[in-house]
Amino acid sequence: MTSFYLPTRLYFGAGARKELAGFVGAQDRVMVITDEGLVKTGILGKIEEVLAGSGARWEVFSRVPSNPRAATVEEALEAARGFETTAVIALGGGSPMDVAKVVALLLTNGGRLEEYQWEGKPFAEPGVPLYAVPTTAGTGSEVTQVAVIIDRNTKKGINSERLLPRAAFIDPELMVTLPPFVTAITGMDALTHAVEALVARGSNPVTDAWATEAIRLLGQSLRRAFAVGDDLKARESVALASTLAGAAMDQAGLGIVHALAGPLSGHYDIPHGLANAVLLPWGMEYNMVAVPEKYARVASLLGRKTAETGRAGAREAVAAVRELLEDLELPWDLAAYLQQEEDIPRFAREAAAMFIARTNPRPVTPAACEAILQKVLLKG
Ligand SMILES: [Fe+2]
Repeated sequence: MTSFYLPTRLYFGAGARKELAGFVGAQDRVMVITDEGLVKTGILGKIEEVLAGSGARWEVFSRVPSNPRAATVEEALEAARGFETTAVIALGGGSPMDVAKVVALLLTNGGRLEEYQWEGKPFAEPGVPLYAVPTTAGTGSEVTQVAVIIDRNTKKGINSERLLPRAAFIDPELMVTLPPFVTAITGMDALTHAVEALVARGSNPVTDAWATEAIRLLGQSLRRAFAVGDDLKARESVALASTLAGAAMDQAGLGIVHALAGPLSGHYDIPHGLANAVLLPWGMEYNMVAVPEKYARVASLLGRKTAETGRAGAREAVAAVRELLEDLELPWDLAAYLQQEEDIPRFAREAAAMFIARTNPRPVTPAACEAILQKVLLKG
């Protein structure tokens, strides 16, 4: 038995942000949750223009850091309560998105974040209407029923269908100023979602269709978006891939790569996309014996002219990912981030215990995690 559920209305294409005006009006008090970078680059201004035209009143909370913590949620929630917020706009990458998703629900459900985290209590009430405007193409958070907030150095997921935004506006015009490095790591996050979803235990024909198309689009356009940031067509393809991959992974599940990235971002503050980018080929190598045929498809989707099947094809896929890392000027290891070697077995145990490890096609053991972390964190 499989199912697929996506109630979020999606708007794609240049200028898609303007559709937001159809969802908020003079009766609304809108809290825009974003980060300082988006204020400085003028992207917030583009959303404020749309809001001004709608007649809504709004306030901006822009103090979301990357890898947000529980304290940020509390602070944003207090601001939203004080403003008597009737709708929330999430503007940015995964971090403002996660904070906004949780704030919209806590506004109506009450209580504190920690009561709902991990296997905490469910959100009984729908949140205030939430609208997502992604400005990176990677997290896919606009179509996922999960929010990740760090609490005492541990990345904790919250799962609820109620976290899905009412509508998302995927506008490549908001992405043209994204620096090459951010384009690279967020794009690799999207690729990791698609590849992990494709082989995940929860995969089904619908998620496979979304994941394979995401991989194809990224293989075709991610290098171009990285190299020529203002190419709107390339930006649009990568943005579409990110949303497709987000929906695929949300419903099929993730795997060992995201499980390993968890403690690395939680303890060392390594950007989520960078951790995934570096870990992806190692995770694929670990899983290869379990699902060679699915990886063999990844090789051709990434543009490799290959007739190889089985493990030879899967090896081609790993080579294609490493070549992509090189072209995007990303490192093959994270040795620069290692603080102390004793962290490796601890991170390995944490990764193996993560909820998302359960959908990996091959059981995720602490020993397997430790072996990969040694390759990634120790030089040579
Ligand atoms: Fe991710």
